[in-house]
Amino acid sequence: MIKYFPSNEKHMFPITRMRRLRQDKFRPLVRETGLDVMDLICPVFIDETIAEPVEISSMPGCFRYPLDLAADEARCIADMGIPALILFGIPKEKDETGSHAWGEDDVIQKAVRAIKSETGDDLVVITDLCLCEYTSHGHCGIARGKKILNDPTLDILGKTAVSQAKAGADIVAPSGMMDGMVHAIRTALDDNDFRHTPIMSYAAKYCSAFYGPFREAAGSGFTFGDRASYQMDPGNSDEALREVALDIEEGADIIMVKPALPYLDIVYRVKKKFKMPTAAYQVSGEYAMIKAAAQNGWLDERKAVLESLLSIKRAGADMVLTYFAKDVAIILGSE
Ligand code: PBG
Repeated sequence: MIKYFPSNEKHMFPITRMRRLRQDKFRPLVRETGLDVMDLICPVFIDETIAEPVEISSMPGCFRYPLDLAADEARCIADMGIPALILFGIPKEKDETGSHAWGEDDVIQKAVRAIKSETGDDLVVITDLCLCEYTSHGHCGIARGKKILNDPTLDILGKTAVSQAKAGADIVAPSGMMDGMVHAIRTALDDNDFRHTPIMSYAAKYCSAFYGPFREAAGSGFTFGDRASYQMDPGNSDEALREVALDIEEGADIIMVKPALPYLDIVYRVKKKFKMPTAAYQVSGEYAMIKAAAQNGWLDERKAVLESLLSIKRAGADMVLTYFAKDVAIILGSE
C-alpha cells in the first residue's frame, strides 16, 4: 500500500507524477522555451590588415575576414537563415582619438557597403559602435593621461554612428559604456535624418574576464589600466536596472546584457522589469570555454551549446549574440 504525504493529498504522489510528461512523445509539447535560428545574431570581424581569413587562436572555428570577403561571409550567414550579424572592424591604423572609426572609407564603412549591396534586406547589419578597436591605447573613449574622458567621447560616438548609418548600417550598437552615449547618438542620428535607425545599447555591460579572447580577435587589448572605470562591477545588479532605465530614457530601442551565462539573473531582472526587446551577448570567453572543454572531450559540444543558448532565452532574452550562430543554424537545420 502506497503511503500518502500528510498534507494536500490530492496534489501529491501518486496522483501527481511529474514524470508522466517527460516521456519522449510529450516533451516537445510541454517545452516552455525554444531556440530558433531567428533568435541569433552572428558576430563578424573584418580586418583591414589581412588578405586571407585568419583563425582566432583562442576562439577555434572563428575567423577574422579581410574586407573583400565581407560580402561572401554575410551571404553565407544570410543563406543559413540567421537574421542578423554584428560587425567589428580592425583598422589599418590606430590613433589616440580612434579617428579611423568614422571615415567614409574606413574599414567598417566599407564592409557595411559591401555587405548591404550583397545581401540587401536579407540580413540585418548591426555595427558595433565603440572606439576601442580604433584607439592606440585600446580604451573605449578618449584618454587624457590614464583617465578616460566621458563627454569628449560622446561627440565622436555621434559622428561614428552617423558614418555607419550613412554606409547602410541597419542598427547601431554602442558598447563603450559612456554615460549619455545613447542620447548623444540618438541626437546625432536624428539631426542627420536617420530617425528610423534603431539603437541597440550594450546597456548592462560588465567589466568581465570573459572578454579575454575578444581582445585578441579585435586587437583591442588596452595598453594601460582596465575598463573598470566605465564597465559595471560584477557584484552589482540593482545598478544594472538603473543603467538600463537610463538607456531606455535616452532612446535605446533594444537593450543588451553582457556577458550572458554568468549574468542570467540580470537578463531575468531586466526583461521582467522593462519588457523591452532584450539581447544577451554570449561573449568570447563563454565560447572559448565550451570549445576548449569539447576539444578535450570533457563536454558534448553540441548539447552544451544548445543548452547554454536555451538557458539564456529562458532567462528572458529575445535574441542572443553568439559565436555559435552558424553552428546552431546547422544543428537546428539538421534536426
Ligand atoms: C568593445 C567590445 C568588447 C566586446 C564587444 N564589444 C570588448 C570589451 O569591452 O573589452 C566583447 C565581446 C566578446 O568578448 O565576445 N567595447
